[in-house]
Amino acid sequence: MPHMLARAALPLLRRMDAERAHLVALRALRLGLAGAGAAPDSPRLAVQALGQHFTNPLGLAAGFDKDAVALRGLARLGFGFIEAGTVTPRPQPGNPRPRIFRLPADGAVINRLGFNNAGLAAFVRHLATAPRGVPLGANVGLNRDGADAERDYPALVAAVAPHVAYVVVNVSSPNTPGLRDLQAAPRLAGILAAIRRRVPVAPPLLVKLAPDLAAGDLPGIVAACLDTGVAGLVVSNTTLARPAGLRGRHAGEGGGLSGAPLFAPATAMLAEVARLAAGRLTLIGVGGVADGRQALAKLRAGASLVQIYTGFALHGPALLPRLKRELLAAMDAAGFATITDAIGSGL
Ligand SMILES: Cc1cc2nc3c(=O)[nH]c(=O)nc-3n(C[C@H](O)[C@H](O)[C@H](O)COP(=O)(O)O)c2cc1C
Repeated sequence: MPHMLARAALPLLRRMDAERAHLVALRALRLGLAGAGAAPDSPRLAVQALGQHFTNPLGLAAGFDKDAVALRGLARLGFGFIEAGTVTPRPQPGNPRPRIFRLPADGAVINRLGFNNAGLAAFVRHLATAPRGVPLGANVGLNRDGADAERDYPALVAAVAPHVAYVVVNVSSPNTPGLRDLQAAPRLAGILAAIRRRVPVAPPLLVKLAPDLAAGDLPGIVAACLDTGVAGLVVSNTTLARPAGLRGRHAGEGGGLSGAPLFAPATAMLAEVARLAAGRLTLIGVGGVADGRQALAKLRAGASLVQIYTGFALHGPALLPRLKRELLAAMDAAGFATITDAIGSGL
């Protein structure tokens, strides 16, 4: 029934302003009105990564549940893991609305939310009481005003660490001025070292990268991560690029583009990062996944885990059972018995 409810509600949600639709969906998930309770996963989809067991490699990307308020409902939909956040130290309203735009003809979204969230104290309160059905990650970022990266990231990691399976240092949102500059290798190394000093024993730490980095920046970033004991990378965040051929009438809006047009560049960057890391980092592949073949492509490019945001926002909860069916079929076609066989096998 709840799946049917979600299906019935989808056309209605699609006619609403994108942010209002998101808030309605989040409330339904919070109240347990969406999501039928997923069927058990095929053992072939299981994967071991970041010291955790995942019953399937398909996770919800950061930004959907910024305040960690709907984790129970989201876990019931069949995600293999959920990344909550981005959370910033203090609450902040984000940019003026409208700030999320659908580009349905392109299978894409543009957002310039700007880390709207209820702040670290509320986030930790919610995490502390969250169900442990699936592994949880926390994605942390900086306030727009008054931020100090070397002070704030360590404090954020220290606060969320007791409650999650992994933590993502977000230095790649395009909607917080100056944030992406923190990806410069020396800067990043300083921040990661500060986190290590403050939180010597923490869950695995990952860094989320922008797809707009130059290829020449990647070796330094990978080296900085390896030097500071980072466990992995999330590749990638949204892009500021506007690939030729976008048809949506909102294509000219400012902000980060996600969804189908991001698939090729984000997967190419993932493959390059995998080559540089040579098995020393755990990679989460994200960007433009909306079918099982695309999920398999991320795994083959080197990801151990895959995340989805825009595909889920556009297709609703029915996406997950379909993705799992298609992923198994794509594995059959390629001759992979398990997810582990596919990881890093090449495109
Ligand atoms: C509306 C929206 C909000 C997002 N908010 C965040 C965020 O708070 N933190 C973050 O790291 N990524 C955020 N993202 C980026 C996603 O986590 C993901 O990296 C990106 O959308 C690419 O995946 P996709 O093509 O499956 O959407 C957001 C994306 C969207 C569409």
